[in-house]
Amino acid sequence: MIILGIESSCDESAAAICKDGEIINNKIATQSIHIKYGGVVPELASRAHQKNIVPVVSEAITESGIQLRDIDAIAYTQGPGLLGALLVGSSFAKGLALSLGKPLVPVNHMHGHILAHFIGVDKPEFPFLCLTVSGGHTQIVLVKSFLNLEIIGSTIDDAVGEAFDKTAKLLNLGYPGGPQIDKLAQKGNKLRYKFTPFQIGNYDYSFSGIKTSILYFLRDQQKVNPNFIVENIEDLAASIQYTLVEMLMIKLKKAAKDLAINRIAIAGGVSANSGLRNKLIETSIEKNWKTYIPDFEYCTDNAAMIAITGYHLFRSGTSGNLKDSPNPRLTF
Ligand code: KG4
Ligand code: ZN
Repeated sequence: MIILGIESSCDESAAAICKDGEIINNKIATQSIHIKYGGVVPELASRAHQKNIVPVVSEAITESGIQLRDIDAIAYTQGPGLLGALLVGSSFAKGLALSLGKPLVPVNHMHGHILAHFIGVDKPEFPFLCLTVSGGHTQIVLVKSFLNLEIIGSTIDDAVGEAFDKTAKLLNLGYPGGPQIDKLAQKGNKLRYKFTPFQIGNYDYSFSGIKTSILYFLRDQQKVNPNFIVENIEDLAASIQYTLVEMLMIKLKKAAKDLAINRIAIAGGVSANSGLRNKLIETSIEKNWKTYIPDFEYCTDNAAMIAITGYHLFRSGTSGNLKDSPNPRLTF
């Protein structure tokens, strides 16, 4: 069974081919245009997808050595994401499906991030808990099967990726800030500055308060020393990262304990963070967890995760049609 996967929810135009459950090609065109604006500009993202979508899909097909007629179904990201960006991928997928007479499989982007764990050799057994951390989401998901997922906790305001990106902006770092904080943090002292990890009820998260408290802290310090940020950038990055990772881990540990589950996965862009990856390994030893950490190429947005999710959906008889609309707020 051959599935073409198409991803265009934010600032990566991507295509991948999944053959009998294995990814045989994975192409990404990253949109660097947003760097100079310090964040993703939706209109520019849509235009870049429009430019990249044909070459990226053609390359994935050519390089994998398949013919268009070999494709059994076309999986595409239906949401969540930016509407204009989703429209490019979904319209392209629909046009191709119509011309080839092939079925469509709409895929939830967050479902894709989680099922990216089924690309590699170390596949999790069900049920497992997945901490899904990206630029738009922070969720603890109970994954009962390929198609049965339950969100048991989520952020009530900012996502943790946003907290990384927004605090990076306060430190005058470029976009996306998460990877830059990560890089600087590796050389800094994480215990130098203490930021209170804000906690709310159950398994939910809130990241807007920590961002504000860091803003006020930096303002106060800069009144005394205008060069405070530049002079202490590594320790600041390390302390911020440490606090955000602590906040993530407190709820993840609580959920694992309450639900008595010791198979724990992380997914989404922030799962590339070295502080989170290390903390997860450390906690797995302490708590006897079996952990699943994605390869770097499958942490951030990609189409392999859409193709593999499309494969599992299609195999179980799920498909869509031309009437399905992109949904910027799609949930499970
Ligand atoms: O999953 P993703 O590629 O796109 C969304 O679906 O949002 O996640 C992007 C987010 C951004 O906020 C980015 O700063 C963050 O993932 N990110 C990181 C790292 N790499 C990407 N955050 C912290 N450390 C990293 N190494
Ligand atoms: Zn994503």
